[in-house]
Amino acid sequence: MPSKAYDLTGRTAFVTGAASGIGRASAVLLARAGAAVHCADRDAPGLHETAGLIKESGGTAHPHLLDVADRTQVDQAVAAAAESTGRVDVLAAIAGIMHSSPVLETREEDLDRVLDVNFKGVLYACQAAARVMVEAGTGGSIVTMASGAVDTGGPGLLCYGASKAAVVQLTKTLATEVGPHGIRVNAVAPGWIRTPMTDRHDAAARARTEDLMARRSPLGRVGTPEDVAHAVLYLASDAAAFTTGQILRPNGGVAMPW
Ligand SMILES: NC(=O)c1ccc[n+]([C@@H]2O[C@H](COP(=O)([O-])OP(=O)(O)OC[C@H]3O[C@@H](n4cnc5c(N)ncnc54)[C@H](O)[C@@H]3O)[C@@H](O)[C@H]2O)c1
Repeated sequence: MPSKAYDLTGRTAFVTGAASGIGRASAVLLARAGAAVHCADRDAPGLHETAGLIKESGGTAHPHLLDVADRTQVDQAVAAAAESTGRVDVLAAIAGIMHSSPVLETREEDLDRVLDVNFKGVLYACQAAARVMVEAGTGGSIVTMASGAVDTGGPGLLCYGASKAAVVQLTKTLATEVGPHGIRVNAVAPGWIRTPMTDRHDAAARARTEDLMARRSPLGRVGTPEDVAHAVLYLASDAAAFTTGQILRPNGGVAMPW
């Protein structure tokens, strides 16, 4: 008999990046756990595919087409979600983009775009959801998406790693500020996960990296979107009732910071 602590029946989740990869797997798993899921993304066909997957398996999905880097769009979508289902109990802020360039070749517009999506996009969603949760007075759980890049560093990772380090700082700061309202805030920092994001790499470079990551992992493989979705579900649920301000690393043991 699975623990009732993972049961999200009667709760509402808002998931950004829900059209693909880790965000899609998380939206589907949160719905399977019983939550009504608001799926947000800028990719309309992907968004409707995710909503279809959730509905096919008997869940409840509400698509929201938006750019997470646009504060007004995020505020409106979270407000609409709170109005349509009466509450927002869980935010999973997963939308993100990859950018790789050597420090000496990095342009200001590269840095701005990555920070706009990966940091400000998470910040806007956190602010909108936390305001709704504080006003409702029923607590909640916020899960942000960092990256193992923060632990390991690596060539080309300046913009991406800086944006994810900023997400970690946001997570810890917000956890201290909204904890008294019963709101928990945690980050997930995955290692290499095979998704459309990593599939966009040149095939030979991707194969080399996957081979390296699998050899570095005591488990001998790279990750799947479902590996990360289970970490998101844990943090979203009452199973993590005493866990806040933490970084959970589904990385196959590639990095073991304490
Ligand atoms: N795949 C990995 O190895 C890995 C590792 C660590 C962290 N992550 C993080 O996990 C998250 C999900 O990545 P993924 O691998 O599933 O990638 P993905 O490309 O499959 O999915 C990212 C989703 O975010 C959406 N998105 C991007 N910019 C957006 C914007 N401005 N507004 C709205 N939606 C937007 C995309 O449309 C897409 O649906 C990202 O934050 C990524 O940085 C991924």
